[in-house]
Amino acid sequence: MKARFPDRAKLRAQVWNAMDNNPGTRMPAFGKYQALSEAEIDAIVDYLYTL
Ligand code: HEM
Repeated sequence: MKARFPDRAKLRAQVWNAMDNNPGTRMPAFGKYQALSEAEIDAIVDYLYTL
């Protein structure tokens, strides 16, 4: 994941609102629509960087 997303802000943006990267995405905007809290998104990004 670090190789794919060297910029943490871009990885976080993918989870917060995937539409920023792809307006036609099927991925839910977990942050924008408050499905997850900001702290939960930070925790997910930390986890993704362990992959
Ligand atoms: C917490 C749950 C999720 C996380 C952490 C997550 C994370 C990500 C990440 C990091 C990427 C970028 C992969 C890359 O470019 O190499 C991605 C892409 C994508 N995700 Fe998710 N995802 C989640 C849930 C979902 C769900 C529920 C869906 C669909 C119902 C979904 C659909 C997609 C699609 C279609 C892409 C490809 C790019 C695009 O079409 O926008 N994701 N996801």
